[in-house]
Amino acid sequence: MASAGEAWAPGIRVLIPEGELRARVAALGAEIARDYLGKELTVLCVLKGAWLFAADLVRAIPLPLTLEFLGVASYGADTRSSGEVRITSDTLTPLHGRDVLVVEDIVDSGLTLRFLRQALVARGCRSVRVCALLDKPARRVDSTVGVDYRGFTVDDHFLVGYGLDHAEKWRNLPFVGVLEASGGG
Ligand code: IMP
Ligand code: MG
Repeated sequence: MASAGEAWAPGIRVLIPEGELRARVAALGAEIARDYLGKELTVLCVLKGAWLFAADLVRAIPLPLTLEFLGVASYGADTRSSGEVRITSDTLTPLHGRDVLVVEDIVDSGLTLRFLRQALVARGCRSVRVCALLDKPARRVDSTVGVDYRGFTVDDHFLVGYGLDHAEKWRNLPFVGVLEASGGG
């Protein structure tokens, strides 16, 4: 059950330990590799939250893929998406005609993903699929937003670690943890 986090991370309860993340990422990588065999896969890592997940995931996909980064930010309070999304740093390469796999940390309201899908389709990607480490379906605003590859379905907690932050902290935790009300700021 609830296990203690790192000593330097008080108030954070381990939800998904390192070993479980590693095993699930390996399985996702194998599944993606099967589906994209013979295609030219472009992995699009959504910054900042997906950087660690994407780093591990690409090493679990034994295909000659290319990697791109896209920074997005949504306006609004820090634990709730407003639905107004903007691109803060764009890809270096045009994505037109590419088979793109969007790698996201977590799908919460789904508004960021909806924006990304629309933007990528508008750019003329040949295909767009989404791989999200975490899916929080209880908070979904738009039920039509689909996730093609899912690491874990999680309850409605605010999560940190393994790339996810709260006010830019805790991205470097090696596990996914729950930010308890008393800790983390
Ligand atoms: P959405 O647009 O509401 O689906 O949320 C998208 C973004 O909000 C994610 O990519 C995360 O960066 C952030 N986010 C949502 N839930 C959490 C959470 O529990 N912890 C940390 N970041 C979150
Ligand atoms: Mg994010």
